[in-house]
Amino acid sequence: MSHLFPTYARWEIEPESASGSTMIDKNGKTFLDFTSGIGVCNLGHCPKNVEEAVLKQLKQFWHVSNLFQSENQEAAAKTLAEAAGLDRVFFANSGAEANEAAIKLARKATGKTKIITFKNSFHGRTFATMSATGQDKIKHGYGPMLETFIYVSYNDIEAIKSEIGNDVAAVMIEVVQGEGGIHVGNKNFLQGVQELCKQHGALFIIDEIQTGIGRTGKPFAFQHFDLDPDLITSAKGLGSGFPIGALIGIEKLEQYFGPGSHGSTFGGNPVSIAAAIATMEAIFNKEFLNEVLYKSEFLFMQLNSLKHFNLIQDIRGIGLMAGIECKLPVTAIIRELRNKGLIVLPAGEKVIRLLPPLTVSMEELENGMNILKEILEKAYVRRNAGVW
Ligand SMILES: Cc1ncc(COP(=O)(O)O)c(C=O)c1O
Repeated sequence: MSHLFPTYARWEIEPESASGSTMIDKNGKTFLDFTSGIGVCNLGHCPKNVEEAVLKQLKQFWHVSNLFQSENQEAAAKTLAEAAGLDRVFFANSGAEANEAAIKLARKATGKTKIITFKNSFHGRTFATMSATGQDKIKHGYGPMLETFIYVSYNDIEAIKSEIGNDVAAVMIEVVQGEGGIHVGNKNFLQGVQELCKQHGALFIIDEIQTGIGRTGKPFAFQHFDLDPDLITSAKGLGSGFPIGALIGIEKLEQYFGPGSHGSTFGGNPVSIAAAIATMEAIFNKEFLNEVLYKSEFLFMQLNSLKHFNLIQDIRGIGLMAGIECKLPVTAIIRELRNKGLIVLPAGEKVIRLLPPLTVSMEELENGMNILKEILEKAYVRRNAGVW
């Protein structure tokens, strides 16, 4: 009998060790991990530079509280802010907490409470971020949500035009909806949303929790779309597996987050900060990000070549964030991929999501694609034979 609340439908694998793109389970079976811990281990498992930075910090001190000065927090904030083209950072422990901070700051700074988010979005599991999320299944059974969120259709500028007014505090958006099925925002739509925010005095908040830290081949995904957000949120890949989240925003907003207005005991923990500095040092450089784009081209070329299997509805994504929408539920296919040694994720019922480490080698990508082809072909044959 498990003593854990059964909040996760866990897979049959128990990892024993992991390095780079590879994971070995307790039975000694080797897997190619194209999940990166759900978009976290962007440098692969246990990258040496992060390990060294963390070990160095572990030997100095582990925790002191945010009442003390911190050169490392300052350095991490500077790197993050500069990479995003923004000015100020608040460190939290997770994506949901970073979004909580964004929601609180937007309400306080504008004096308004109404926030527009999008159908199919995902922003977290706390009360405010669950309320912000545009998916009913996340909220089921929890009673009334925070009432001031409005959900409009994604990639539909007319839908938001009919809801936005001067009473809106903020619009919160993912430029690629991750959990919602890998839906990439349309550039005109995203720029239109930003323009509407400007017209109505609403803050433009971009949730970069899954898309940031090099995942799409830029430090942050919004940089593909020529956008200028007031606030962005980051987490997942930022600490390479050490828990950290961040709210990053324009200078003008700092007056609303003065001493005592917000806080977190563990936010910006020294060990996580050491991991974040090392992670950003490795990822935020042109050469590294160009390689991500190069691998991405190869990945999508391969994925698009699978389109002739008539069980595939669509291939979507950007950088090393890919979704294969199928015409049938994908749980069984994902299980078969695991049995063959390739670990991938679902995103909703019908989408296979690939989030390989950004450090994945071309050979590993090719191996992964071969397994995917083999299993999809089998599924295709079975479907045509009416077995599926
Ligand atoms: C876009 C987005 N926002 C927020 C979150 C919540 O992050 P966390 O699980 O770290 O609270 C996630 C997690 O999947 C996410 O993908």
